Amino acid sequence: MSIPLTTTYLGLALPSPIVVGAAAPLSSDLRRLEQLEREGAGAVVLHSLFLEQIERDWREWIHHQQHSSESHPEALSYLPAVDPQHLGLEGYLEEIRRAREALSIPVIASLNGTHSGHWSETARALEQAGASAIELNLYSVPSSTSCSSAELEAEQLEIVRQVCSALSVPVAVKLSPWYTGLAAMTRSLAEAGARGAVLFNRFLQPEIDIDTLSTEAHLELSHRSEQRLPLRWIGLLHGRVPLDLAASTGIENGRDVLRMLMVGAQVCQVVSALLRHGPGALQRMREEMQQWLEENQIESLASLRGSLSQQRNPNPEAFERAQYLRALSSYALPADWDER
Ligand SMILES: Cc1cc2nc3c(=O)[nH]c(=O)nc-3n(C[C@H](O)[C@H](O)[C@H](O)COP(=O)(O)O)c2cc1C
Repeated sequence: MSIPLTTTYLGLALPSPIVVGAAAPLSSDLRRLEQLEREGAGAVVLHSLFLEQIERDWREWIHHQQHSSESHPEALSYLPAVDPQHLGLEGYLEEIRRAREALSIPVIASLNGTHSGHWSETARALEQAGASAIELNLYSVPSSTSCSSAELEAEQLEIVRQVCSALSVPVAVKLSPWYTGLAAMTRSLAEAGARGAVLFNRFLQPEIDIDTLSTEAHLELSHRSEQRLPLRWIGLLHGRVPLDLAASTGIENGRDVLRMLMVGAQVCQVVSALLRHGPGALQRMREEMQQWLEENQIESLASLRGSLSQQRNPNPEAFERAQYLRALSSYALPADWDER
C-alpha cells in the first residue's frame, strides 16, 4: 500500500514534498517543466528574475507613465520593449502565465535582488501573472565595512515587509546561512509577513586560476555532504519559528528527503540532483521514500515531520556545540600517519 506523499507548503497543496528549486536550465523550458510535473514534482520554483536586470524596464515604465496621460498604473503591457540581452519583466511574466496554464502543481516565482529596488511593484506583477507564491532571494555579499549587520537586516526585513503587505499570495524567503543571529532573523521574517524560509541559498564562490591569473565566479553543483548545514538549521528552527521550512542544498535521493522531513522540513528543493541525473531522479526519489516508509510502517509524512528536530531528538546536543567538542576530541589519526 503506497503512503500518500501529499503535503502543504506555504498554505498550498502539493502532491509531493519534492520541489524543483530555482534554476534556469530546469524551468525556462515549458516542456521540461511538464516533464518534471509528470515525474512527480510537488511544485516548481521558476528561475529568478533579477531586479538589477529590470531596473531599466521600471525606469522607462515610470518615464512612460509620467508622459502618457492615457496610461494607468496596472497596465504592464505599457512596458517598453525588453532588452534582447535578458528576459525582462514582460518575458518573465509570460513564463509564469504559460507555466500556470500548463501545470497543475503550484508555480512559485523567484525574485532575486540585493538592496532597494522595485521589489513590491515587481512582486505584484508576478502575482498578477498567476504566481502561486513568491520566493524572495536576498542575495547579497555584505562586503561594506561601514554597514552593520543590524542595518543590513533591517533593510532586508523592510523589503520583506513591503512585499508581503503588497501581496495576497504567500511569500518565502531564501536565506543565506551567514547571519550572526539566524534564528532571530527567521522569527523577524515571520513577523514581517513571510510564510516560509528556504534554507539555504548557495552562493557561487570565486575561483582563481594561478596560470592565467583570471578570477571567475565558479558554478559547481552541490555535493551531498553540504546537506548537513540546512539539516542542522532546520532541526534547530523546527517548532521554534512559525514558518514552513524548505530544505535546499545537497539533497540527492529519497532518503535525504526523509531525513530533512524528520528534522522538520516541510518540503525539499532539488536542483543539482536533477541537473546531474535528469528528470527521472524525481520518480526514483519518490520510490525510495515509499520503500522506506513501508518498511518502517510509517503511515503519513505528518507523523514523520519534526520527529528528529532538536526539540524532539533524544540527542539534542548533536545540533549544538557539545557535539562539536566530542567530535574534535574523538578524531583519531590513521595508524601509519607518522610514516607518511
Ligand atoms: C545552474 C543553476 C542555476 C541556478 N539558478 C538559480 C536562480 O535563478 N535563483 C535561485 O534562487 N537559485 C538558483 N540556483 C541555486 C539553486 O536554486 C539551489 O539553491 C542550489 O543549487 C542548491 O541546491 P542543490 O544542492 O539542490 O543544487 C541555481 C543553481 C544552479 C546549479
